[in-house]
Amino acid sequence: MRKEIFLTGITTTGTPHLGNYVGAIRPCIEASRSANTTGFFFLADYHSLIKCQDPSRIRRSTREVAAAWLALGLDPERTIFYRQSDIPEIPELTWILTCLTAKGLMNRAHAYKAAVSENRTAGKKDPDKGITMGLFNYPILMAADILMFNAHKVPVGHDQVQHLEMTRDIAKRFNHIYGEQFVLPEAVINTNASVLLGLDGRKMSKSYDNTIPLFAPEKKLRKLIMKIKTNSLGPRDPKDPDNCTLFGIYQAFADADEIKTMRRRYAEGISWGVMKQELFEYLNTILAQPRQHFEELTSAPDHIETVLQNGAAKAREHSSAFLQKIRQSVGIQAVS
Ligand code: TRP
Repeated sequence: MRKEIFLTGITTTGTPHLGNYVGAIRPCIEASRSANTTGFFFLADYHSLIKCQDPSRIRRSTREVAAAWLALGLDPERTIFYRQSDIPEIPELTWILTCLTAKGLMNRAHAYKAAVSENRTAGKKDPDKGITMGLFNYPILMAADILMFNAHKVPVGHDQVQHLEMTRDIAKRFNHIYGEQFVLPEAVINTNASVLLGLDGRKMSKSYDNTIPLFAPEKKLRKLIMKIKTNSLGPRDPKDPDNCTLFGIYQAFADADEIKTMRRRYAEGISWGVMKQELFEYLNTILAQPRQHFEELTSAPDHIETVLQNGAAKAREHSSAFLQKIRQSVGIQAVS
């Protein structure tokens, strides 16, 4: 049986946080351990240029994201772990796809529409003010990432589902014009249960600046947990675990028995101070070892680079041969 290809990209603009781990890193690492799948995981550094023009931030984030995945147990021998910019076939394929993508399809992209509507609300004369072609073409680059490796399943958050639909549209159009080359990928959506809330009670996200970095040093981790917003119920008041940021985080890491016990303690009125201290101790124990591994990796980044180069070599075994086929299908080839 041919193995199913799982592929996902991580934009390298921030520091990995608890929400990234629970929503993306952990399920991907778990999927990559199955014998029936091949995992392609990559650092989407060309995507990061769309949102970030601070080179040092991109450099740091690329190193930290790579180190985080390795420290948390991604096995680079069993998976293909690489940096998008090390695969020159991806931007080449992006151009080929750009030439058959309807502009109208891109006009409908949520991220682009949101930027236009912000300009309108702000009363800007030009609705496209400040919008780059990078933002506009973003879904085509993402389609190339996915189609390049004929991925079957693409784990993504809700906000990326439209991009997967666009990828399928683009792939169908190519297959229709030039003959069947691309697999039509499917989105695998993280369920709500795996969405963590952040310090202020909204979804944990770097865009809200409410995250808890996975590898914050112990003191910082404690400080952040103490800052998590709770309601004004006092000690001994029964509390509702299901609408509680602290419980949500605990639940994402604990086993079934531990969760059951904690639910009982909420009913019995555990105080917020005690809960915060326990959550801190619990997370700190779980994260201590990966944190140390992360620190070792980031302080000697040569190892990370070697891993990424090996990953790129494996990825290119496929992408360079496949791009040759694609070029031929569209008529870009030697004249004789
Ligand atoms: N756009 C994705 C995000 O912001 C990251 C990404 C880039 C990606 N290329 C991809 C995800 C290909 C899945 C497949 O989350």
